[in-house]
Amino acid sequence: MKILGIETSCDETSAAIVEDGTIILSNVIASSIDLHAKTGGIIPEQAARKQVQSIIPVIQESVKNRGGIEGIDSIAVTIGPGLIGSLLVGVETAKTISTLLGKPIIPVNHLIGHIYANWLDNKRQSKPEFPALALVVSGGHTDLVLLFGHGDIRLLGGTRDDAAGEAFDKTARLLKLGYPGGPSISAEAARYDEKSSKSELNMFPRPMINKKNYDFSFSGLKTSVLRKTQNLDSNLQTQIPQLSAEIQEAIVDVLVHKSLKAMRVFKPKSFLLAGGVAANQRLRDKFNLEINNSKLKIDFYVPPPQLCTDNAAYIAGAAFFNYSPILWSKVNANPSLTIVS
Ligand code: KG4
Ligand code: ZN
Repeated sequence: MKILGIETSCDETSAAIVEDGTIILSNVIASSIDLHAKTGGIIPEQAARKQVQSIIPVIQESVKNRGGIEGIDSIAVTIGPGLIGSLLVGVETAKTISTLLGKPIIPVNHLIGHIYANWLDNKRQSKPEFPALALVVSGGHTDLVLLFGHGDIRLLGGTRDDAAGEAFDKTARLLKLGYPGGPSISAEAARYDEKSSKSELNMFPRPMINKKNYDFSFSGLKTSVLRKTQNLDSNLQTQIPQLSAEIQEAIVDVLVHKSLKAMRVFKPKSFLLAGGVAANQRLRDKFNLEINNSKLKIDFYVPPPQLCTDNAAYIAGAAFFNYSPILWSKVNANPSLTIVS
């Protein structure tokens, strides 16, 4: 089955065709990140306007040389969470295509969609097995969930304040690094790694790391970084690589520690890392290392970096494995959708 996925939840406009939830036939992404980099963050109104400009060319490009739009069996669209103006562009476009072509429409939760990037074609032959533990780390969310099957999901914990991606973005801003913060912090941290003798990176707190629950909190990190940058003042510039390495390690430490605890307790067959922050090399490496060291019998999946950040391929993939079309008039954008509803 060929599904056309449409994703417009934030600052990426994307359309993809995916066959049977695993084979990417096309995946076109137009990003308005450059625009937001100029202002150091997303201005929702501008993001929505960009979505309007990009949606039709992006869909046209995704179906070109792929049998055209008529070759599609169904349409999948992100309904939330996200920015309302951006979401509406994708949702209304998908509804229009669906009604005009008489093809089913499947609403997709963006956060669950991220997890399905782990089913998309990559070099591995095997696919994730259930029960699976998934950590979704994006710009607005940090959720640890157990999956007992497709559509059978239980929330273990989430962030109480800032999300992991938000922590990267906000601390990067304090260091006057570019938006989005995750890639800039990790690039600076890599410079430090090259120069340093790999000393202990424990300058910043690891909130809630030893708490019995599976919740996260990252707003304290931002406050500590603010204090540190104020104290450094004119010396700040020279310290940026080290500070970046410290910030990255603090975030990575908490995510890895809490996920490993859940792996020990629930003993899932697979661990699925997902969301934009999953593109972070240090996070990927540390999970690999700690899972190997733990001797747990668990298969670790993480999508290639370009499929971790927002794109429509995983939206189409999620729709295939959770195939439940509904009437177009019942498909509504919901900016505050949560991972379990
Ligand atoms: O999933 P995503 O593309 O969009 C949302 O659904 O929010 O995630 C975006 C987030 C941003 O906060 C960005 O800074 C972070 O993912 N990110 C990274 C990296 N690449 C993107 N964080 C750390 N390291 C990266 N390499
Ligand atoms: Zn996302």
